[in-house]
This record gives sequence, structure tokens and C-alpha cells, in this order.
Amino acid sequence: MRLRFRVCMIFMAVGCRGLDPAKVLDGNSSITDGAVTMSDAARDAGVSADSGLPCAIADLVARHCASCHGQTPLFGAPMSLTRYSDWAALSPDGSGQPVYADVEQRVHADVGQMPPPPNTPLSADELATLDAWIAGGAPSMDCKSAPATDGGMPPVTLSCTPDRHLVPTTPIELSPSMTDDYFCYGLDVPVSKKRHVIAFAPHLDNTAVLHHTSLFQSDTSVSPTPAECPPLGAQANWRPMWGWAPGVQPYEMPAEAGFPEEGTVHYVVQLHYHYTTTQVGQLDQSGFDLCTTEQLRPNDADVMAFGALSFSIPAHSSLDWSCTVQVPWYGDTTHLIASLPHMHKLGQLITTTSNGIDLGSQLHWDYSHQQWISVDHTLSPNDFVTTRCLWENSGDAAVDYGVTTDDEMCFSFLMYYPRITNAAWNPLLPAEGSLCGLTP
Ligand code: HEC
Repeated sequence: MRLRFRVCMIFMAVGCRGLDPAKVLDGNSSITDGAVTMSDAARDAGVSADSGLPCAIADLVARHCASCHGQTPLFGAPMSLTRYSDWAALSPDGSGQPVYADVEQRVHADVGQMPPPPNTPLSADELATLDAWIAGGAPSMDCKSAPATDGGMPPVTLSCTPDRHLVPTTPIELSPSMTDDYFCYGLDVPVSKKRHVIAFAPHLDNTAVLHHTSLFQSDTSVSPTPAECPPLGAQANWRPMWGWAPGVQPYEMPAEAGFPEEGTVHYVVQLHYHYTTTQVGQLDQSGFDLCTTEQLRPNDADVMAFGALSFSIPAHSSLDWSCTVQVPWYGDTTHLIASLPHMHKLGQLITTTSNGIDLGSQLHWDYSHQQWISVDHTLSPNDFVTTRCLWENSGDAAVDYGVTTDDEMCFSFLMYYPRITNAAWNPLLPAEGSLCGLTP
């Protein structure tokens, strides 16, 4: 399947009667006049000149929504947003309200915001345009002469050619029991001589249903046969290495470090699917492409976990929990390069800081959009690191720390170098060694 997400083109409407072009264009766009024909990329995004949408809305959809809500929705998006009829239809969530009313909520929402991060949010001007149109009853208005032009974000490609393809040996079949599901499979990679992983990219197969993907390194071999599995972070000996969600670009490690491959590496791929009942039975063989090299970098990279391994969120209440560790380094300074905050469904907020420096926080935790955040910070021996988690439990039973989706977690995984190799070290040690209590 083609890498459709690469075709997130910016294109724009010109010559819209009755609309201020300044409102329709953002600062990056250039205006072209005359008979510009619609580009392939624009057609691919599926917003046509006679969509029935006002130019400003058609333009906004093309730039911010169509990479997922295209004529053929991708990455688990439940509906298209490219035609007026899509907006006037009843919402797929069964709320009984039209899609445009849902849109109005989701573009302003703290949790479940559209477009989902890390995609650029709508600007204040774009929100105002959308709000005004919806407040006016979202009238149909043909943007007859809305041609489009190519431009915008160039696809980010790796500067290396991936040589390691982590894909399942047998296709994954979406199970009929649900419309949101996780599958895992393992891959053992024996190497005769030490190598460094220096770049990560998603290997996308069935983009209609894929919602997000995570790559782990495990201490032990995991079955190559894809099987349903609990969500991210469930297995204590699976260390998250990297992850992808729509909008996340391929990642190259800083020149100082690479993830070591030595002996036999036990990779685990986790795939999160979001699909409709009509997509049950579809197949997928997604995974990851890595660049590896035997020209070793100066440092090995690794991941360590900050956070809490024990807490209880009482029924019908919230818990605001903080854990602080004075890091037992067994080493020198540690360079932090990326952070993956992780909680489950009751999570509201997670922050990790050291001396007031943000080490990857999410002030509006969104379980369905988990991702690595770039950080650039050096920790010195004996620095303090604090992770704070806030949960809200409206249920009738207390919820404790645990590995299943119905339990809760509070972890901040940090990618760092140089790898700590002291025999007394383990990647969970910062969490294990934390002092935790109610947030003061
Ligand atoms: C990166 C992919 C992506 C982009 C870009 C995106 N969405 Fe979504 N959208 C999704 C996914 C996946 C879902 C289903 C999961 C969910 O509800 O969060 C969704 C759900 C929605 C829903 C809820 C549908 C329902 O009723 O169940 C609305 C409304 C929505 N998106 C509007 C928008 C709008 C408007 C834009 C552009 C401003 C946009 N989205 C951009 C992926 C995307």
C-alpha cells in the first residue's frame, strides 16, 4: 500500500466569491490566479471544487483533516469530511447530532482534540472561520472555482536507507469482537557483530485501520505469531524504543548515540487498530523500518522509566500523585533525548520535570494519542526528577497500579545516552527508587 500519509499536501482555494482571500490563506500559502488545475495530490486528499463546502472550509479540511478524513478515511478516522454531505450526515458516534456539531466540539476539545497531536492545531483565525460557519447553521455553498496547487510540507524522508524491516510473518486479521484492538508480535534478530540502530520509520500496510504503533525491546523472545495483547507498557521487561502515530515523522537518532544490537535482539511490535464493524476481517502487516550500521556511534542509547509502581485511586474521586527520585546514576551525566508519557484511561495529566525543566509533559492526557516527545536535557548525578500523575475515577471501585487496561499506570519513559551498564542498574530503577505521595 502506498504511503498515503506522505501526501499531506497543503493546497488552497482561490477565487472564492464573497470570501476574503486573506481568511482563506495562511501565511505559507502563495496565491496563484487564473486557470490552475487541481493537482493529483489535491485530488488524492479528495476535496473537490464542487464539494458543497465554502472555500474557506474546503481549504481548512484539505490542510488539516483530509490526511485522515479523506474521501477514503485513514488511520481509524470514522468518516470522510471532504463533501458537504459528510458534514450534514448524522455523526458516526450515534449521538444523533450532525457531524458538523461534533466537529465544533472536537476542534475545541482538550481531550480528543482534532486534528490530533502532533499535527498542527487549527489557528485562531481558522477556528473563528469554522465557528462562524457552524454558528450560521453550516450552510452549503459551492466553492465553484476552487482549484488547488501543490505545496506545503515536504515528506520527511530518512537520510539513510532502512535495512531492517520488522514486519509480521503472518498477516494480522482484525477481530470481530471489537473496533479498537491491540496486537503484538516478536522478532528475534541475531547479529554476528555489534550494530547501532540510528533511525526509525513506520512500515505502513493497511492505513485504513492502523491508529498507532509502538516498538519495544524485550529481555526475552516473544512469539512471532501476532496475538492480541494489552496496551503499551504492559510488560515490565518490554522497553519502549520508538512509536508512530499519524503526523509523527520518521526519527533519526542524534549523531552521538544509537540503540545497540548485540547477540540476539528481541524486538516486539505493537499495533493499535481503530476500525468500524465493516472493516472486521481486514488484514494488516504493518511494522517498522530501521536503519542500522556497524559504524558505531560514540554512545549506546537506552530507555529508563520514571513514575510510580504503587498507588490506588479511590472510587468516585481523583488522585493527584507525585513521585520524586534523586537519580542513582552509577555514572556521569545523562543526556535525555525523547520522552514517552504513559497512563491509562483515567489519566488526566502527567508531567515530568527536573529543576523546573519540562521533560515531556501532557497537560491534557489523551489515552488514544500517545507519542514520543523530543526533549534535550542533561541530568547531572543527584539531580531530582519528579513525575506527577492526576487521575479521575468515576467508577464504583478503586483502581490500582497494574498492567491491564482496567488498571492504571504513571510512567514517563525517557530515551537517553550513554546507556547505564552497572550491574545494579535496571531501567525501572528510577521508578522503583522514587518517593511518592499526594502532590503537595
Ligand atoms: C491524524 C489523523 C486525523 C486528522 C488529521 C484529523 N482527524 Fe479527526 N479523527 C481521527 C481519528 C483516528 C478519529 C477516531 C478516534 C477519535 O474519535 O478520536 C477521529 C475522529 C473525529 C471526530 C469524531 C467522529 C465521531 O463522531 O465519532 C470528529 C468530529 C473529527 N475527527 C473531526 C476532525 C476535523 C474537523 C479535523 C480537521 C480539522 C480532523 N478530525 C483531523 C483522525 C484524524
